Amino acid sequence: MTSFNIKAVQTELQNKKPRAILKSALESFENIAISFSGAEDVVLIDMAVNIRKDIQVFSLDTGRLHPETYRFIEKVRKHYKINIELLSPDRENLDLFVKEKGLFSFYQDGHQQCCGIRKVEPLKRKLSHLDAWITGQRKDQSLDTRQDIPEVQIDSAFSTEEKTLIKFNPLLNWSSTQVWDHIEAYQVPYNELHEKGFISIGCEPCTRAVLPNQHERAGRWWWESGNKKECGLHAGNTSK
Ligand code: ADX
Ligand code: SF4
Repeated sequence: MTSFNIKAVQTELQNKKPRAILKSALESFENIAISFSGAEDVVLIDMAVNIRKDIQVFSLDTGRLHPETYRFIEKVRKHYKINIELLSPDRENLDLFVKEKGLFSFYQDGHQQCCGIRKVEPLKRKLSHLDAWITGQRKDQSLDTRQDIPEVQIDSAFSTEEKTLIKFNPLLNWSSTQVWDHIEAYQVPYNELHEKGFISIGCEPCTRAVLPNQHERAGRWWWESGNKKECGLHAGNTSK
């Protein structure tokens, strides 16, 4: 992958369907992985295994996911016969943090520090071994932070001087309804929390079910304001 022309590829992929974006991503990069949250972004895996059987998938195991999500990750692993790499936080950092602040400090001083330790640092470690990654971000997930995501981008948050990291967002233009139509049509397994009123799913203490007609991200970090509802995985979304 020496001659990846981001501008040309972005022009080529603009408004293309998720499958076409995924196909292009997997054809352009051998060393690429799907970042799977344990929610409805399972559709990415469903599409990708038909293109590359041994697709690399990883999940950030914050230690605070719902039991339902852990069960779901196992279900997906078995259903698609794939390996899902679970990434844990750095033990020393985590021990120090919990010793100092306990298990629920985010309700007092915001989620950034905990997300930094439990999600961002393990992600950074993983991404340092990849050339590109694939996320399930969609524009309709947030009016505040996700309206400008492109099909493909240079990951400004995780690229280093030595390596430019590429990020693909194949589902960007799909609505939640389109994702669920796919899940239904192709009998894709889903997280049982979706049957309990959850739409967007993150860690257990920071996610709650939403009421009918409430926006899905209203259930995430509900004690904070809308434009802060990014945890650092997609820091580029809020850096403009
Ligand atoms: S978050 O930044 O607010 O937590 P969100 O839940 O909307 O993200 O998910 C958007 C995309 O980020 C997912 O489709 C997935 O690619 C990635 N992601 C979020 N949480 C995780 C996780 N725990 N493990 C791996 N990837 C994740
Ligand atoms: Fe911590 Fe909540 Fe962030 Fe999970 S979502 S890493 S529990 S602050």
